[in-house]
Amino acid sequence: MTVIVRDLRPEARADVEAFARVRHLALPYMVSTPDSVAHAIAQAHPDAHYRPLVAELDGEIIGTAQVGIAHDSPEPGQGYLNVYVHPQRTRHGAGSLLVRVAEEHLAAQGATKLFTWVLDEPANRSFAERHGYRPSRSAHFLRLDLANSTLPPLQTPPPGVELRTAADYADDPRPMFALDAEATADEPSDIAVEFTDYEAWIAETWKHPLLDLELTSVVLVDGRPAAFSAAYTDGATRYASAMTGTARAFRGRGLAKLAKNDSLHRARAAGYTEAFTGNDAGNDPMLAINKSFGYEICATEVRHARQLG
Ligand SMILES: CC(C)(COP(=O)(O)OP(=O)(O)OC[C@H]1O[C@@H](n2cnc3c(N)ncnc32)[C@H](O)[C@@H]1OP(=O)(O)O)[C@@H](O)C(=O)NCCC(=O)NCCS
Repeated sequence: MTVIVRDLRPEARADVEAFARVRHLALPYMVSTPDSVAHAIAQAHPDAHYRPLVAELDGEIIGTAQVGIAHDSPEPGQGYLNVYVHPQRTRHGAGSLLVRVAEEHLAAQGATKLFTWVLDEPANRSFAERHGYRPSRSAHFLRLDLANSTLPPLQTPPPGVELRTAADYADDPRPMFALDAEATADEPSDIAVEFTDYEAWIAETWKHPLLDLELTSVVLVDGRPAAFSAAYTDGATRYASAMTGTARAFRGRGLAKLAKNDSLHRARAAGYTEAFTGNDAGNDPMLAINKSFGYEICATEVRHARQLG
């Protein structure tokens, strides 16, 4: 019974499938598919030094780690490692070995501060603390039983406001890039994010295999995108919000709610039965919006950080 840690082999479909399966078992509130795992590897920015790792126990993949540098943060030297072990295969040393290999890689790439998400359960928290990580911000996963929910009724937008979909921007997504960049910069987090590279955004975000342009709703004010709600789907039953945001000048007018409600109604009509979303625990406006749709908190993760050196 020996655990080894190695790089995921992107060309081996079995590796990619096992990675997605372990992530799904450990974190069922996130939509992760083999295609999204493969996309994260193929589209990773060179500056991210992204390395997906797997832990194997007697030939079976039982653990995963996503490891890289937060290259799109204005603050240099921040690394991340997100480690998830198959819930029925814990206590074999896979987690510790994944952490060790991940930390060696990040230190070699110049990281001085490491961040990791930890599910808020005593065993996970003490694991993180034993490895030198200290708790910081938390975030909630929320779930909505979309098939049986009573969504607010669809409303006719006020004058000057119209609803479109991201598919209308397929030929020129630049206005969507500007809106996503502005909203993402304001999302509460302990790693600041700044989208400045349009081509990288196209590759990573716009061409993400889970992004459903038709189900992504965009609110236009006087013909310009002012708010949006981005939809990921697994192509079967699960729908997840990848991002909801409103341009600063248009906040507090119900536009994020308008976008997300429109997207949820259309996702339900398309046959999706379960909706997921994730919010920083301090994001009161977004939590208020999600609660108004009937989402309930189903799990909490606590970001932990460790200073190196
Ligand atoms: C969060 C965000 C999308 C809200 O957009 P918006 O267009 O202003 O939102 P809406 O006007 O549709 O709704 C805001 C809701 O939050 C409520 N709200 C606002 N501030 C609040 C606060 N401090 N505490 C509690 N509720 C608050 C409002 O009352 C409203 O709810 P109601 O319609 O039930 O009254 C916007 O602030 C944003 O883009 N933030 C940065 C990106 C981000 O964090 N996105 C979410 C990522 S998960």
